[in-house]
Amino acid sequence: MTELLDLRTDDGVATITLQHGKVNALCVELLAEIEEVAGRLAADASVGAVVITGGRRIFAAGADITQFAADTNPASFALADGGRVREVGGAFLRALGAVAALPMPTIAAINGVALGGGCELALACDFRIVAADARFGQPEILLGIIPGGGGTQRLARLVGPAVAKDLVFTGRTIDAAEATRVGLADRVVEPDDVLAAAQAWAADLARGPRRAIALAKRAIDAGLDRSIDDGLALEQDAFVEVFATRDATTGVQSFLEHGPGKAVFGG
Ligand code: COA
Repeated sequence: MTELLDLRTDDGVATITLQHGKVNALCVELLAEIEEVAGRLAADASVGAVVITGGRRIFAAGADITQFAADTNPASFALADGGRVREVGGAFLRALGAVAALPMPTIAAINGVALGGGCELALACDFRIVAADARFGQPEILLGIIPGGGGTQRLARLVGPAVAKDLVFTGRTIDAAEATRVGLADRVVEPDDVLAAAQAWAADLARGPRRAIALAKRAIDAGLDRSIDDGLALEQDAFVEVFATRDATTGVQSFLEHGPGKAVFGG
């Protein structure tokens, strides 16, 4: 679609492929495109699920480190000033926020390395399907900085504070087996099968009751940030709301007429 990413839709599944430079470094320009595309997909009724993928060797190597410096000349090296850092951080916040806010299921399909902001982009998705030889990490500490795209927040919510602190304090890289053990990776497949498996998974989800799935996603995500009582109240509202959808009419009528699991929702 552009020089920085490609967007295709097939079978109700939109696939965003990062294709920027040697390592898919997440510069502010690429982040702005991700934000724009996610905003468009959120309003596209033909899309029932989204896959985000990168290169065959590198999903994404993180923030574009060149944008962390105001002067890269070794003799006169200067870090970016606070205003620029806020601009870079803001681009991450908005882009990954737009991905996390997508109402339909999202799957990161990961080959190779997902480091720093690349790992944070994967964390903004609902699921991560990864190659058996993929590697993950939040190596910012090795640059004397900290994650700025959700690595201290979404990672801790997904894998718990102790595992998040281990990864963030050490900057160490973990393999697919360890990522699965700690809950960072959901499915592991052979490297050649990652994208096709992600798209097949996404197509299954896209054939489901889309309004019901969107309401369930909203209740789970919003509930995690609230007290249990507020979360349960939110769930009750969504539970009432879902009964006003065609999904509920189709599903309940089908159950009563034909038995469980026979409903065809048609996206
Ligand atoms: N931002 C900007 N440029 C980056 C980059 C990043 N995050 N990561 C790599 N690059 C550049 C390298 O400087 C190199 O540039 P050059 O070809 O002009 O010299 C090029 O991409 C290829 O990187 P290289 O390290 O030679 O490739 P590799 O295949 O051996 O390793 C990685 C790839 C991704 C494993 C490795 O580059 C890496 O660890 N990158 C840094 C990851 C990181 O710390 N991210 C967190 C950022 S906060």
